[in-house]
Amino acid sequence: MAFTYFFRDMQTLDMIRDYVIPEMRSRRYIHIWDAGCAMGPEPYSLAIVLRENMGPMIFRNVQIAATDIDGSNLFGKIIEDGIYQWDQVGRIPKEIMNTYFTPTGPTGEYRIIDEIRRSVKYQQHNLLSFESVQKDAMLIVCKNVLLHFTEQERAKVVKMYYDSLVDGGFFVTEQTQKMPKEMEKLFEPVVANARVYRKVS
Ligand SMILES: C[S@@+](CC[C@H](N)C(=O)[O-])C[C@H]1O[C@@H](n2cnc3c(N)ncnc32)[C@H](O)[C@@H]1O
Repeated sequence: MAFTYFFRDMQTLDMIRDYVIPEMRSRRYIHIWDAGCAMGPEPYSLAIVLRENMGPMIFRNVQIAATDIDGSNLFGKIIEDGIYQWDQVGRIPKEIMNTYFTPTGPTGEYRIIDEIRRSVKYQQHNLLSFESVQKDAMLIVCKNVLLHFTEQERAKVVKMYYDSLVDGGFFVTEQTQKMPKEMEKLFEPVVANARVYRKVS
């Protein structure tokens, strides 16, 4: 099972805050797809950053489709319950922790608050089906997943993301992942030295 933790990649979250969120505020529906979300810390961290920087009214328009192939068939329940152990939440800044989590049970677990939980909907999905789960996405996050695929599969998955995004929508991947050559014309980098791209129409 893929171990992952909250606020794993602060640099990317900061870039989403600075470059993507300002473009989201004017939208009635803010559809996001987190592909290869593992047990949920990544989409929930994103949801917290959005809520912090948008306020409650605009945040109500946010829907995050969190998907994973999930060989263990366990992620759906974990994400729905929104309960995590200390090793997954321990790096969260204290103020954020106090605002968005409540301690629960006798074994040192923490539950994410309903407002954040409601914004994330999980479904099991294989990216290599090359079928989109989210049309009109404003943002697609796919980190530490594409590296498992062949070059050809990567290009097909990234093309699927292109087709799933609204014009001017954003695609975010991990720092070490390069944009497939044949996709370079379809996306422009938002900042140098980071894997935040914008769909070119
Ligand atoms: C290393 S984890 C990354 C989790 C998270 N994105 C992060 O960066 O913290 C990779 C995830 O990709 C998922 N994955 C692998 N192959 C996949 C596929 N074909 N379709 C969907 N998800 C897949 C795995 O189940 C795993 O949860």
